Amino acid sequence: MVYSFLSNPAEFLVAFLVFVIGVPVLSLSFLIVKFLVLSRLNPKKLEKAVSGRHILLTGASKGLGRSVALILAKHGAHLTLVARGNDRNEDGKSSLDLIVEECRRLAPAHVEPAHIAGIPTDLMSLSSTVQMVRAAIQARGPFYWVLGCAGGSVPSFFADSVPSDPTKLARFEREIQSNYLTAANVVGAVIHNSKHGGLAGNLDEGVEGRDLCVGIPIQDAQTLPKRFVFVGSMLSILSFAGYSSYSASKYALKGLVDGLRNEFIPFGTNVQLFIPNNIDTPGYAEEMKTKPELTKTIEGVAGLLSPEHCAEVMLALILHDRPLIASDLLGEILRIYAQSMCVRPSPVTEGLALPLLNVIQIFWNFFAEQDCAKYGRKILGKQQ
Ligand SMILES: NC(=O)c1ccc[n+]([C@@H]2O[C@H](COP(=O)([O-])OP(=O)(O)OC[C@H]3O[C@@H](n4cnc5c(N)ncnc54)[C@H](OP(=O)(O)O)[C@@H]3O)[C@@H](O)[C@H]2O)c1
Repeated sequence: MVYSFLSNPAEFLVAFLVFVIGVPVLSLSFLIVKFLVLSRLNPKKLEKAVSGRHILLTGASKGLGRSVALILAKHGAHLTLVARGNDRNEDGKSSLDLIVEECRRLAPAHVEPAHIAGIPTDLMSLSSTVQMVRAAIQARGPFYWVLGCAGGSVPSFFADSVPSDPTKLARFEREIQSNYLTAANVVGAVIHNSKHGGLAGNLDEGVEGRDLCVGIPIQDAQTLPKRFVFVGSMLSILSFAGYSSYSASKYALKGLVDGLRNEFIPFGTNVQLFIPNNIDTPGYAEEMKTKPELTKTIEGVAGLLSPEHCAEVMLALILHDRPLIASDLLGEILRIYAQSMCVRPSPVTEGLALPLLNVIQIFWNFFAEQDCAKYGRKILGKQQ
């Protein structure tokens, strides 16, 4: 039978094509359905996970972080909310003051006002972040989760991010501070507090004579957060014209998260990265002011998600322990393709879908490069 099947080239070709096209299509369809199911937030599961637990949330005053804060408050979490908080409305209140008030209003009756507070901090400074972490732990106890949403993007061509005065801060350096350091400083500050007795409450105790595991005193390890989750971007795994500086900072964040995930395994602490698509936030509105036309053309129909929906998807998939978390179908397809050495949630099915994603990648690259070439011809053509 095998012989007759192989001896009929037409049948063999059909069977081959069904296998080569059918298996990746079926696998990708399965992964898409799985994503759609898992990305629906289960309120009971979230409440069980966060009610009465202390969560540090950065970037909480606006956009995505604000939406995450409101959901967590509704489900009974104790919150330390962080932003720089330099803005003021006509009543003299900052966006950080306002989100604290909103969260207190939304919280269930068993959550006291003191369980939710804001600490204005510039996370680009390690020393300010250490002080903030220490104050938060003293007031509300060790963190159960640490969620980092602080950050933002100022898209521009790389040449435009170089200052005319080289003693001034370059925009490419600013992006690293705003997106990478605001996350690294938070992890650094939590570890600093553990090394100096902050987590166990014995402030100013050093590490000398104490047993360490990956550099952290063992007796304080049980008070480390159960999760660190940071917000990268689809541009943590993909870069193109106009995003060279921003994307580099978000790639750096992915490197930090992947490394820490390994280092914190002995403590059972999960480290995750959310890589959302465009979100309709104040930060996005600012971004659109400097975004080059070429960048908009390459982005094409990337779509725009609401911060509320994005926050729900993020929290739903955090609870499923995904290391790399997409916000929508486009992001999920990109995640499966560009997961690199990071642990895959469905290794076999994702492996089977990869040949199809390879084809999509070839087309995407072709069109992105065509856009850049067309832009070049248009501008340079004018000069000739
Ligand atoms: N919006 C999008 O399309 C999009 C897409 C992909 C990824 N992301 C990422 O998602 C995250 C949230 O973005 P978003 O659009 O919601 O931004 P947003 O509306 O501008 O809000 C940013 C938040 O971070 C705080 N923040 C910024 N820099 C800070 C610093 N140095 N120290 C402390 N807090 C700081 C801001 O408050 P203060 O100004 O008061 O400090 C604010 O609360 C960012 O990491 C961004 O890169 C956004």
